Amino acid sequence: MSARIIAIANQKGGPGKTTVTMQLAAGFALRGQKVMVIDTDPQGSATQWGASSDDGSFPASVVSLSAVPDKVHREIKKFVSDYDVILIDCPPSVASPATQSALLIAELALLPVRPSPTDLWALKEIVKLIETARTVNDELLAAVVVNQWQPNTLLSTDALDALQELGLPVMQSRLHQRQAYQQCAVLGTAVYGLGKAAKLAIEEVESLVIEVGKLLGEDLKPVKNPWKQWPLVVKETTQ
Ligand SMILES: Nc1ncnc2c1ncn2[C@@H]1O[C@H](COP(=O)(O)OP(=O)(O)OP(=O)(O)O)[C@@H](O)[C@H]1O
Ligand SMILES: [Mg+2]
Repeated sequence: MSARIIAIANQKGGPGKTTVTMQLAAGFALRGQKVMVIDTDPQGSATQWGASSDDGSFPASVVSLSAVPDKVHREIKKFVSDYDVILIDCPPSVASPATQSALLIAELALLPVRPSPTDLWALKEIVKLIETARTVNDELLAAVVVNQWQPNTLLSTDALDALQELGLPVMQSRLHQRQAYQQCAVLGTAVYGLGKAAKLAIEEVESLVIEVGKLLGEDLKPVKNPWKQWPLVVKETTQ
């Protein structure tokens, strides 16, 4: 087994890096994949999220490497043969050695952005960093994930137009602005764990998981009534 490695990064604070990381982790786990989340952010949000469920049922191992930000690419090598997917939640700074280190080892960089001008401006910095990383990691893919989407607002549609002009691939799947995403962090779960009431959010996450799979050349299948699979039974991993 050699894990697929995805870095979730962006310059700005708060566009949804940790949210995208944790929802994707759950979506891959739902398909029987063994998932690890690497938390490289000293704020420890992913670590806290993974530890917040009442019954410890978050279906991925969450490990913090925030103490060794410049060695993320080396440390991850210890885990690649034990997992199918490793998601790296980056800190809110492209200047952080953790972001740079993650981009050296990732196969795909996902860049969450909110449909706002300031988020779009901030993208320029991460794009520069991706170009630098590609001098070493020449097959690194990158794609923008629109988060906190609000349909039928001028700000959102204008921002999407501007985004498309930047020339970066933009994922078709978008996460809308929904309370379900906020609840997940508090409850230490993913949208699937909220049950059928979160159907719209579940559909968005499912669509994103399948689209990310396609970027990685994996043919992931839709899961019928995915909330019924929850909580998942996750196989133990020896580390
Ligand atoms: N689609 C969404 N709808 C509603 N709220 C959201 C959505 N995505 C994220 N949020 C909320 O926005 C806040 C920031 O999200 P998150 O922590 O995922 O961003 P981040 O990029 O990891 O932030 P940081 O830069 O601080 O690490 C959180 O309170 C989260 O619950
Ligand atoms: Mg975060």
